[in-house]
Amino acid sequence: MKNILITAGPTRERIDPVRFISNRSSGKMGYALAKIAQKADFNVTLISGPVAIPPPEGVTLVKVESATEMECEVRNFAKFADIIIMAAAIADYRPKFITNSKIKKTDGNMMLELERTTDILGELRSSQTEVKLKDELILVGFAAETEDLIKNAKDKLNKKHLDWIVANDISRTDAGFQSDHNEVTMISKKGDLIEIPLQSKEKIAEIILNYIIQKEGEE
Ligand code: CTP
Repeated sequence: MKNILITAGPTRERIDPVRFISNRSSGKMGYALAKIAQKADFNVTLISGPVAIPPPEGVTLVKVESATEMECEVRNFAKFADIIIMAAAIADYRPKFITNSKIKKTDGNMMLELERTTDILGELRSSQTEVKLKDELILVGFAAETEDLIKNAKDKLNKKHLDWIVANDISRTDAGFQSDHNEVTMISKKGDLIEIPLQSKEKIAEIILNYIIQKEGEE
């Protein structure tokens, strides 16, 4: 049985005990992928930020909050994976200082200093991580873009040393972030460019997984 690692949902970066920075990711695309992979007889590990949807039956759910926790869990499971699909919307910045007591307001403005988080996907295949990945690992990312969709997605495919990237236009209101539907373009490092028209995230998940399995099996 093959192992697939899927990440989903947003991360939350704490500011103080009552506040955090997050994003609008619903987790639906990642959860749909986990459900389809489980049905396709994969051994599924789903690492998820805080979402409002139940996990698909039969998957191993690992709950995380912050980008740091996500990084730690991805590193734990990555070495076992035959396929990794990073659908999570991971924060690129977190507050530099977290206070243990609630920040009280003053009359003036306030500045919040942010520091970079790790590019978890970007570092998996780079020398900066000691995680020993399987040689035959298929590494898949998502590109969340509001402009220059294909160009930006191709840049991420190359920069993060991926086998596939799923380009996702998040400026649309009828698809993508929070919607039950999506329309995406899959791009492979070998030059495949596959447009998947608007349909349910579950159907999209099925098509994505089928392409990956079929195309990688052609070698
Ligand atoms: N990603 C990651 N770690 C981060 C940020 C993103 O592993 N700290 C992963 C996402 O899960 C996704 C891919 O990288 O699979 C691309 O994420 P995206 O938010 O589209 O791009 P960024 O790399 O964050 O670049 P930018 O925000 O500048 O578009």
